[in-house]
Amino acid sequence: MPRYAKQDFPVAKVRRFLEPGPIVLVSSAWKGETNIMTLGWHMVMAEEPALVGCYIWDANHSFELIRRSKQCVINVPSIELARQAVGIGNCSGREVDKFTKFKLTAVPGEVVSAPRIAECYASFECRLVDSRLISRYSLFVFEVVKAHVAKSPRFPTTLHYRGEGLFMIAGPTQAKYKRWFKPQNL
Ligand SMILES: Cc1cc2nc3c(=O)[nH]c(=O)nc-3n(C[C@H](O)[C@H](O)[C@H](O)COP(=O)(O)O)c2cc1C
Repeated sequence: MPRYAKQDFPVAKVRRFLEPGPIVLVSSAWKGETNIMTLGWHMVMAEEPALVGCYIWDANHSFELIRRSKQCVINVPSIELARQAVGIGNCSGREVDKFTKFKLTAVPGEVVSAPRIAECYASFECRLVDSRLISRYSLFVFEVVKAHVAKSPRFPTTLHYRGEGLFMIAGPTQAKYKRWFKPQNL
């Protein structure tokens, strides 16, 4: 096993090593307006109920749409949408209709009024279940109330943000370590 010689590292940049989740496109709707933002800072908080925490910066237009409607859809894009994912993060719904600009198809949510994105591999309809951390940390705690996932491929090629414009692209999925797990931890 290697022992790594280490050097001081700026704490503000540790995100580079801690952001393994796929970037997602968060769609929202409020009073007839729809919007999409790109989001990398999310975390699974519980399995049942299925809770997901999302950091949504309060300067983003999506912040108010989601805070007021108390709903959103977390859509998982695969690598084919890399260009759109960056573009959606480069502009604000205050100025543009992102569904039109990025030629994405809005599909009505089954449970929430926020639209799903047809071109994404998966869409998770969410309700805001805890707003207490929003004012302090911009952290929205959502419950996934309905999940739509493509039949194939089983593991999509997702984009994982490393900061500073760098993406890690999802690689092969390995089953060879499974035998080391306690069954109850699988
Ligand atoms: C790869 C990537 C990851 C991002 N992650 C986040 C995030 O986790 N939270 C956030 O508030 N903004 C994040 N952004 C920035 C928003 O997507 C961006 O500010 C966007 O313009 C907001 O759109 P809106 O004003 O229409 O809501 C990210 C952008 C990119 C390109």
